[in-house]
Amino acid sequence: MASILLIGPGAIGATLAAWLAQDDRHDVAVAARTPFDSIEVQTPEGVIRANPRVFTDFGQVRPVDWVLVATKAYDSDAAAKWFPTACGPRTRVAVIQNGVEHVQRFEKHIDRERIVPVMIDLPAERVSPGRTIQRGPAQLVVPAGKNGAEFVQLFGHTNFDAKQSDDFVSAVWRKLCLNCAGAPCAVLLKPQGIVHQPGVAELMRDLVRECVAVGRAEGAKLEDSIPDEIVERTRRGSRAAGNSMYADRRAGRPMEYDARNGVIVRLGKRHGIATPMNALMVSLLEAAQAN
Ligand SMILES: NC(=O)c1ccc[n+]([C@@H]2O[C@H](COP(=O)([O-])OP(=O)(O)OC[C@H]3O[C@@H](n4cnc5c(N)ncnc54)[C@H](OP(=O)(O)O)[C@@H]3O)[C@@H](O)[C@H]2O)c1
Repeated sequence: MASILLIGPGAIGATLAAWLAQDDRHDVAVAARTPFDSIEVQTPEGVIRANPRVFTDFGQVRPVDWVLVATKAYDSDAAAKWFPTACGPRTRVAVIQNGVEHVQRFEKHIDRERIVPVMIDLPAERVSPGRTIQRGPAQLVVPAGKNGAEFVQLFGHTNFDAKQSDDFVSAVWRKLCLNCAGAPCAVLLKPQGIVHQPGVAELMRDLVRECVAVGRAEGAKLEDSIPDEIVERTRRGSRAAGNSMYADRRAGRPMEYDARNGVIVRLGKRHGIATPMNALMVSLLEAAQAN
């Protein structure tokens, strides 16, 4: 039995909370900014429902075995405000976000050894508070070790592909390669069908090439073929599909461009690697968000 507090029950968070609650041995609660009564997730296998306790005030929570953070990266400091009441001496904090800076975002709030960074590949959308659609299978990757093994066990009752990796650095950089290439959709406010424009396809390849160069300098093992593979994968996808930065911009919400593109620019500077295309995406999205 594990007690779990999931902070940030949006597309990813509500979907994970519902799956975790399907195991009676877990005691699942959520820490929400916007309250709701229950969770309902349309999964590829059918609808699953859950009725976790929903907290909206730090004072309502007690220390748990696991805190799972599934806010957007830019809400990390706000999410950490739950830690003083949710974290006891043995609580582990799993950071389930995109990007490559999971630990760096939270180490000022809790001991580094208790942070479990999680790479998540799970296409999910939030329809309304507590209501999500899971559009495909879920993959979770964590660094190998005791904390990683215990995190993976939380999902033992699901059909998730949850696993430990001896090369977590490569796993998160590979995911960042995909995420950074999504910026043109958000800039142009057009879904991923734009990849069929040769100029946009080349821009996406350039974004990924920069990511590969910086990722390698950070120790990731990334193949030369990744830029072409990402363009081909996007071409095979639905023309009408959008990524989450595109969806966030359309909805007038803040975008995760710092975690997805800005980080490539920042770490590129540290290694003396030029990243002009990612810098351009950041400048344009920053300007778009400012309006
Ligand atoms: N969606 C996907 O398909 C997908 C796939 C892979 C990875 N990811 C990554 O997973 C992470 C989460 O993405 P998402 O799409 O699930 O985001 P999302 O739908 O925007 O959900 C974020 C949730 O966090 C809540 N929140 C923000 N600040 C909070 C606080 N201080 N306390 C409690 N809750 C708080 C938000 O509350 P409100 O309800 O008030 O907005 C919202 O419910 C991101 O890093 C994203 O890049 C997403």
